[in-house]
Order: sequence, then structure tokens, then C-alpha cells
Amino acid sequence: MQMSSRANNKVSRGDPIELVIDGQTVSAFAGETIAAVLLLQDKTSCYRTRGDRPRMMFCNMGVCFECRVRVTQNADSRWVLACVTPAQANMRIDTNVDLSHWIAGTEPTIDHDVNPSTASTKGGENNDV
Ligand code: FES
Repeated sequence: MQMSSRANNKVSRGDPIELVIDGQTVSAFAGETIAAVLLLQDKTSCYRTRGDRPRMMFCNMGVCFECRVRVTQNADSRWVLACVTPAQANMRIDTNVDLSHWIAGTEPTIDHDVNPSTASTKGGENNDV
């Protein structure tokens, strides 16, 4: 889905913003959740389990924790729940990051200069969460 997939009839939106998802600059509107932006970009994975399985949002209300994504902003990098976190201008969002880093509290190595479909953020044991 692209920006044209959004409902437009009688909808008021925040200001247009740009952010980066997996190395690609995308457009969104202030006030939208990261989850909404990911869905509009046809993303099919928020993070990967230690067994390398993609996981995607399920409840969309902050309960299931299946929408964890890695966000970098203002030199700060952290995990957030995409469904309850507003998208902000200049956020860098990385999907497909290995969840073992969340569990271990370690910083994933994310090479923003490589193709995100081939980038590796794996680490830890080969067990599912
Ligand atoms: S989709 Fe369930 S917590 Fe975000």
C-alpha cells in the first residue's frame, strides 16, 4: 500500500513527516502510529525470533508485544511497540531485528548501508522466543 491507500474522505491529519524504515525514506503524517506506517509500506515483519521467524503485529493495542521494532532517534536506539508509538519525523525504524538482543539487553549491529533484505542482525542462540 502507498499513501494513496489511505482513507481521505473527511479525515483530518497531522503535518506530513518523513522517516526512514529499513533504509528507505517514507512519508507519513504526525500522529500516526509506527504500525500504521509499516502497514502502509506493506511490511510483513516487525522483528525476528531467535529461531529467525518473522513476527508481525497481532492485537494492535499494546498487549501482545508482537510489534516490537528497533527505533533510532537523536543518537538513542531502543525497542518500542509499533502499535502504540507515534511516528515522528526523522525516526529510523528497523524491522527484522533479532529479538535475542531484546532479551539479552544488547545492542544489535545494524548496517544501514546494506540492502535490508539481506542485512543480518542475528545473534544469540537458535531458539524461538
Ligand atoms: S500489536 Fe500487539 S502490542 Fe502491538
